[in-house]
Amino acid sequence: MSSNPTYLEQAQQAAAYIRSVTLGEADTLVILGSGLGGFVEELVDAQVVSYASIPFFPTSTVEGHSGELLLGKVGEKLIWVMSGRFHYYEGYELEETVFPLRVLRLLGLERLVVSNAAGGLNPEFSAGDMMLITDHIDKFPSNTLRGKEAMAFGVRFPDMSEPYDTEWINAARTLAEKLGISLREGVYVGVTGPSLETKAEINYYQILGGDAVGMSTVPEVIAAQQMGIKVIGFSVITNECMPKDHQSFSHDSVVEVAKKAGMMMQKLVRRLLIA
Ligand code: 6GU
Repeated sequence: MSSNPTYLEQAQQAAAYIRSVTLGEADTLVILGSGLGGFVEELVDAQVVSYASIPFFPTSTVEGHSGELLLGKVGEKLIWVMSGRFHYYEGYELEETVFPLRVLRLLGLERLVVSNAAGGLNPEFSAGDMMLITDHIDKFPSNTLRGKEAMAFGVRFPDMSEPYDTEWINAARTLAEKLGISLREGVYVGVTGPSLETKAEINYYQILGGDAVGMSTVPEVIAAQQMGIKVIGFSVITNECMPKDHQSFSHDSVVEVAKKAGMMMQKLVRRLLIA
């Protein structure tokens, strides 16, 4: 291989490495958001690959993100879990933030469950609520698929009319009802961060039709859609984000609330995966 591997070649090398250190195949990935790492406890016989050991993988820098790829069983089903994700605000390029998805696609990925911690824009939402993402608004300054490297993985102009799978959404609604889990629904606004929203920006995102705002997910969903991967997404509302009584909050409090509400998400996602 050349000394300057392309994006695709980098992904191939990373995939070959992961294949060499893990046993078994999985077609589903769960990406865990801030404070939602508890889901790892659902995994039986987990094989752990640290991001740092994988060729060309970025390494996670945020607190509360441990930076591991896991392969383990939920019920009878083998699944991939990313504990720790890469955010644009950390300084990665958008194509780097989705590199793990590219790699896992080469290993046969067909389905993606994304989760995140988000601020609630919808006045009816409270901290601790869980929201099923029905659609999103992309406020990132560029597109994940910009440039020619992305075309090694799919089409130039992917359709985005239904990035979150309708059947899977219906299954989640039904399951939540059955388990007595109250599930909000809405539109996720993906922003760069890391600065939080001004009151005027909160007002603006509400007018746009946003129900929650956060700093991840959208780039990953775009890459997944381009590769024909089926997606479902959940936000844990960690704080109310209202222009009237907007209060500052800390990353620690986001992780704290996410951990509690994360228990519900853990239960729902577990059942969704084995359904
Ligand atoms: Cl209020 N804003 C953004 N951008 N991300 C968040 C958040 C708020 N709360 C959790 N994540």
